[in-house]
Amino acid sequence: MTTKTIVIGCDNAAVGLKQELIKVMEQEGVAYEDVGVTDTSDQTYYPLVAERVCQAIIASGYQKEGILICGTGLGMAITANKFPGILAGVCHDSFSAERLRLSNDGNLLCMGARVIGPELAKKILREWLSLQYKPDGPSQPKVDAMRAIDEQHRK
Ligand code: RB5
Repeated sequence: MTTKTIVIGCDNAAVGLKQELIKVMEQEGVAYEDVGVTDTSDQTYYPLVAERVCQAIIASGYQKEGILICGTGLGMAITANKFPGILAGVCHDSFSAERLRLSNDGNLLCMGARVIGPELAKKILREWLSLQYKPDGPSQPKVDAMRAIDEQHRK
């Protein structure tokens, strides 16, 4: 299991799922910070929640990682990937969660509460939390290329 603190956020489409995922982290002894939203009546736009999570990861020097959930996971991932050093992916199956970690060095997991049920989401989360990227393996040149593109296009 990861020893990193996980910053978790959601919009109002995924408040219930966030509570389920928090229970998993508590069971697994994973430290987490919940940056909201906490109520389904909270209309905060998903990009603003994504911003909170990404800023917390960046401020930690990438020692923290993130989970963002919304209706589909898509808006969260699109927003998160605009932040330097964030490698976010939507995973709705455990193979993708494995590859997000091992192939892509993904530091932010996105899921959609309107796409998958809580049991599958919890399995995906456990998979992603349990794996660590191994530097200098065959995926490294591709991850380096992603990071180089990120650097080149930063304003
Ligand atoms: C609702 O705002 C919905 O668009 C959002 O939860 C998410 O699915 C966006 O990608």
